[in-house]
Parts: sequence; C-alpha cells; structure tokens
Amino acid sequence: MNQSLVYLNGEYMPLKDAKISVLDRGFLFGDGVYEVIPAYKGELFYFSDHVKRLQHSLQRISLEIAYDSAKWQNILTPLLDKNRNQAIYLQVTRGVAAKRDHVFPEIITPTIFAMANDIQPLDSIQAGIKAVTLDDSRWGLCDVKATTLLANVLLKQQASTQQCAEAILIKDGNAIEGAASNLFVILNNTLITPPKSSKILAGITRQIILELARANGLEVHEREITLAELQIADEIWLTSSTREIMPVIHLDGNPVAAGKVGSIWQQMNTWFQNNKTPTL
Ligand code: PDD
Repeated sequence: MNQSLVYLNGEYMPLKDAKISVLDRGFLFGDGVYEVIPAYKGELFYFSDHVKRLQHSLQRISLEIAYDSAKWQNILTPLLDKNRNQAIYLQVTRGVAAKRDHVFPEIITPTIFAMANDIQPLDSIQAGIKAVTLDDSRWGLCDVKATTLLANVLLKQQASTQQCAEAILIKDGNAIEGAASNLFVILNNTLITPPKSSKILAGITRQIILELARANGLEVHEREITLAELQIADEIWLTSSTREIMPVIHLDGNPVAAGKVGSIWQQMNTWFQNNKTPTL
C-alpha cells in the first residue's frame, strides 16, 4: 500500500486527510497509549507480544477495547509493504469528549490511528553510540506505553544537545532504562538487565534478547544495575523495536571499556539478525 496512507477510525486515507478533533483527550491530556511494531518485508515481528502489551497498557488506563489479535492484524495489514522494513505506529486514545474535563466521559468512543514509516538504516548506530546519564524525571507508571511522553521528550532532547543518541535514566542510584529503550550491561561475561516493574517498559526487543541469551547459554540476570556498575561495565546496550540493539561506546564523555563495540554485542547481534525472518 502507498506509504502515505494511514488508518483512522475505520478508514484508510492519505496522511494529509487524517484529522482529529481538538477535544480529543489524546490531544488535551495525552490520555492514550501506543505501540511501535516492526514489520520486515510485510511480516509483523513478534506481533502477538505487541498486542499483549497493548492490552496491558489499555487495561492499566481503564480503556476497554474488545479487539483480539486478529482484529488488530486486519487493521494493520493494509499498511504493510512487502518491499520495505517498516515501523508501524498504532495509537489509541480515550476519544473526543463534549468538554475538557479530567474525569472520563460516560460514553467513550476511542480514537484509533495507525501509520507505517520506513525503519531507518542502522549502520551508524551499530558502529556505536554515545549516551549520557540523566535523572529519571518520569512518572510511576512506566510499564504503560502511554503517549504522555513529555518527560521522555525533554530527556532525549537534553541528550541530543550533548551530541548523545540516548539518555540512560538514573533513579535511586540505579540505571533504569533509556528514554526510549531498555538497558543491558555485560559484567564478567554475564548479561544483566533490570527486572520488569512499573519503573520500566517491558520491551519486546528486551524479551527477544533474553530468549536468545538463554537459548544460546549466555548467563543472564534480571536485577537492578547500580550507576557504579554501569560506569565499569564491559559493554552497555540499549534496545528498541526500531533501533534493535544499540552498542554504547561512550558514556558521559568516557569510553565504555575499550571504547569499541564489544564482542558479546557482535554475537548477540548475529543471533538477533538470524532470528529476524524474513529480512531485507
Ligand atoms: N520505544 N523503554 C521505553 C521507555 C521505550 O519508549 C521503548 C520503545 C522501549 C523498548 O521497547 P520495544 O523493544 O518494545 O520497542 C523501552 C518506542 C520504539 C518508541 O517510543 O518509539
């Protein structure tokens, strides 16, 4: 399908024709949730896990939508292109209310929007990125993939002004996750990532990496990572659906170990690429 076609509330249309009301609660309050789902050559990647996470987010904000995985797939399929690697953006808000009021309206018609964008080439990222540590200024429901992303936007912008591709967020002396990614470190040949909780988003890429590590005999621990451990890590990775596994080679202006992409990252990235079927 033409890249510029998007889905809005039951219809497909050119992006320029997709319009919502200024009274949409997504616009007024950021009262909505979203998913970003990779699709390689027209095949949605780990789709049922993304749907499960969407259902978790919807349930956490008390927004009921009785769509199953097949229904979501029917909505998204016309946006897919067999010749491209795409990131599908899917957003659900609590819809339009008669007036601005924090309290939910009695009758809710959710706004459902989806679009597809090409996944950008990852070569420069995979050569290694710079990251900066910043205080985690986000709210207490980070397991919800909420569109309310102002804290993440400000943190990412602060990283960007310091020529860094990502911010690693610090809370109570622990490294939590990136502003738009999950965190892994290698210490003594062991892979460590913070455990699932309301402090992090349960990333699908995180889950895939844990599966691949366990299947291939790499020792894994899901536990807190202190800032001190982050600073002496042999490797640091940040992961997301659109950027896959980003090796961090500079942290706060200092090289991470030798300041080069690590050997365990090379191995994990090979497992990850082989697990992506089909690939372009
Ligand atoms: N963000 N943590 C946060 C805060 C994120 O925003 C994301 C992804 C992740 C990684 O999740 P996954 O592996 O399922 O993509 C972790 C998406 C890509 C975004 O907001 O665009």
